[in-house]
Amino acid sequence: MVGAQRARVRRGVVLAGSGRGVDPGVVSALARVRVDDGPAFRAWFECYDRAQRHASGSAESWLIEEWRARAADDTAPIHSRLFRLGPAGAPVGVAAVELNDLDDVRLARAELYVDPERRRRGWGTALLAGLLEEVRALGRDTLMVRVLVEPSGEAKRAALAFAGARGLTHTSTSPSRVWDLAPESLARLEDRYRLRATGYAVTTVVGPTPEALVAERARLAGLIAGAVPDAGAGVREERWDPFRVRDLERHVADLGREIVVALAHEEGTGARLVGFSEVTVSLTRPTTAYQWGTFVEPDHRGRGVAAWMKVAAARALLATSPATTRIVTQNDARNVAVIAMNESLGQRVSAETLVFIGHP
Ligand SMILES: CC(C)(COP(=O)(O)OP(=O)(O)OC[C@H]1O[C@@H](n2cnc3c(N)ncnc32)[C@H](O)[C@@H]1OP(=O)(O)O)[C@@H](O)C(=O)NCCC(=O)NCCS
Repeated sequence: MVGAQRARVRRGVVLAGSGRGVDPGVVSALARVRVDDGPAFRAWFECYDRAQRHASGSAESWLIEEWRARAADDTAPIHSRLFRLGPAGAPVGVAAVELNDLDDVRLARAELYVDPERRRRGWGTALLAGLLEEVRALGRDTLMVRVLVEPSGEAKRAALAFAGARGLTHTSTSPSRVWDLAPESLARLEDRYRLRATGYAVTTVVGPTPEALVAERARLAGLIAGAVPDAGAGVREERWDPFRVRDLERHVADLGREIVVALAHEEGTGARLVGFSEVTVSLTRPTTAYQWGTFVEPDHRGRGVAAWMKVAAARALLATSPATTRIVTQNDARNVAVIAMNESLGQRVSAETLVFIGHP
């Protein structure tokens, strides 16, 4: 299907259209957008931000400064590249490709958006064809496209129809849940889980992990990828060491975010961790924080350790960022154990991420 689609794009012009017609100016060549090209980068961001909010129904997405940090350094082992279709000052379509050389050099993760005013005129087709060319030129064989949508909104229908028509396979869905934070109920929840998780202790850290625990934190971080459902690109073991934890902490600071981590150990064995849970928040827009990784070693599951860590991290977050009112979490719909725990904490579905896979 993707090959058939590519055949329609020749000499930079989309030749075949739809019943609804093709914009005469549609060209397939993607242009790279550099973050140090001020006006072009701002125009890229404005198109991305408008389209992302339109699809997700959410007032929030990545901030422009966060995109700057993600896309500034091409030599970083995990970095993003930004692309546009159409004029630099007013793109019609935008895309971001994330390349992760540490974990999977076959894979490129992408987002792609067409300006909501310009849909069904071939731009999405041209954007996808251009992205597949880029991915092939980078020597990668798998493109993963993700989009955050309202669970029963028009954007979900459009993404599924577009992907189906253009040869992408829908491989997974990850609902986002919102957790409205109420300090009194968090205190009660923490008491409840502390009692249930007898024999364990949870500590919280704001900012960098103490040197004595960083190797353990790295060991656990490396186990997450193999413990969650595969999003369709095949499970790849992630290699973590203390330097990678420090790189992550520096990246969080570059993003303008704070990180709060809860760490769990068995009482009496403080040097060996059994789990961690991390949450980050933007210092410039602190209302909504985001849950990042949570992991408990298999032998220690089912005892309330993960829920206790999440509650402890939320309380430490509120202490350091009083303006924060909610945490957003995202889990693969097949990850039933984690979802049951999140619902028991009072979290409710707000949006969902659709994941698609294509091969150039
Ligand atoms: C999905 C998206 C990129 C499509 O962009 P677009 O420019 O409208 O796509 P095209 O005009 O190239 O459409 C190509 C084909 O996709 C299908 N399609 C696209 N949008 C559709 C919709 N709303 N309903 C039904 N089919 C649709 C049709 O088969 C269409 O061909 P046709 O017009 O000949 O019937 C755009 O809606 C968008 O930006 N959505 C939000 C971001 C997103 O979902 N990204 C991930 C996509 S996998």
